[in-house]
Amino acid sequence: MSTTAADAVSGVTTGAGARPTWSTRLAFILAAAGSSVGLGNIWKFPYITGEYGGGAFVLFYLGCIAAIGLPVMMTEVMLGRRARRSPIGAMRYNSETETGGHRWGVVGIIATVTAFIILSFYSVVAGWALPFVVHAVGGAFTGASAEEIGGLFGSLVSSPGELTIWHTLFMLLTVGVSAAGVRAGVERAVRWLMPALAVMLLMLVGYNVANGAMGEAVAFLFQPDFSKLSAEGMLAAMGHSFFTLSLASGAMMAYGSYLPGNASIARASVTVAIMDTVIALTAGLAIFPIVFGNGLEPGAGPGLVFQTLPIAFGKMPGGVFFGTLFFVLLVVAAWTSSLSMLESQAAWLEEKGLSRSTGAIVAGVAAWLVGMTTVFSLNIWSDFAPLDAVPMFEGKTLFDIYDFLTANIFMPLGGLLMAVFAGWVMSRKASAEALGMPEWLYRVWLVIMRFVAPAAILVIFVANFAG
Ligand code: TRP
Repeated sequence: MSTTAADAVSGVTTGAGARPTWSTRLAFILAAAGSSVGLGNIWKFPYITGEYGGGAFVLFYLGCIAAIGLPVMMTEVMLGRRARRSPIGAMRYNSETETGGHRWGVVGIIATVTAFIILSFYSVVAGWALPFVVHAVGGAFTGASAEEIGGLFGSLVSSPGELTIWHTLFMLLTVGVSAAGVRAGVERAVRWLMPALAVMLLMLVGYNVANGAMGEAVAFLFQPDFSKLSAEGMLAAMGHSFFTLSLASGAMMAYGSYLPGNASIARASVTVAIMDTVIALTAGLAIFPIVFGNGLEPGAGPGLVFQTLPIAFGKMPGGVFFGTLFFVLLVVAAWTSSLSMLESQAAWLEEKGLSRSTGAIVAGVAAWLVGMTTVFSLNIWSDFAPLDAVPMFEGKTLFDIYDFLTANIFMPLGGLLMAVFAGWVMSRKASAEALGMPEWLYRVWLVIMRFVAPAAILVIFVANFAG
């Protein structure tokens, strides 16, 4: 297969000129892995693994990635490449070619809104890592007590001014790269950021092999004790498999739309999913030996990397170097993810006639503004629960609402609709041609899109609503 359906339609180029593609298949893989490897891998995966008891949770999570996450990723990449448009344009195009109407275009809108909202608060959280780089370099952790380190984090989140500075800086990093475009911006950035990320992570693991409580960490991560796996843990694992692979929010659809027509979607997606998984597990091996070796608590929750880990950096030899390395790693991982969140909006605005750089700036400024409401939710608006009257949102700050809406409603809904569209609405001929993979693999994919993925997503959806 050398061309896609959209390539064959004349006049498919949109906006100012011909639409870009990644220069190589590797560039797509680095960008998509950059999207999927983020705070989800280095901040969230370790702490939820700690909370839900280790090995058995990890095993179940791996199953979710392989059985649902990976096939849904293939679907998204396929829908994007087939249309060669931004997610909003792509779902409209796919809807029109498959049904004659544009009703399914709403899926692209849901995905793009999801990515926009996630970007708005992701930038604030990623911004936390920036002052921690400064603390680490300046030796602020050295010899500090748990209270003193807790205080560093506490005074950061309680200060609207400080949070604004770091949120602004992080958004500037994101817009700065994205404004330069797909090849000169995103591709060029991930080509050196992703290898740098791998090297930093390996150095941290190397330190642990030499000095940390590696055996204990390996047992914690890889020895399943199924008595510790709760229903809540299983739901968290399923939900996280979507978040960590950047699914149901148009990121993979947008990046897939630049994938050269002759690249294998299955092979590229498998590579990305493996990279994401290996990096999440490696992050566990970078963090837990330090946690166990210093008698710290693995189930410390969201504060694990900001409040627990720095205690260890303050005590260990070379802690200034390795502490700095860790927080730079966190910034890099978050940066390559935020690029993909902005992509769907920048690409859509470009289709609407703006230049690439204007599109990236407009979307970035809008996400920055919404992000400011997250900044305030952490301090001066921490008691402001605007939807208090709605039971589902009772007591939730704006930040809590964004998180809840995206993770528990928009992402499952978007993922479900994408699976149903690809599995039931698209003709088999169209999906088989757009995926271009061996017959047996196509059959497996089809069964997953038709039954397994919708069922699994519905379970998460209903459970989250009920719970
Ligand atoms: N996958 C990223 C992480 O693990 C988060 C992310 C990037 C994302 N792009 C996304 C999540 C798009 C949802 C949608 O941190």
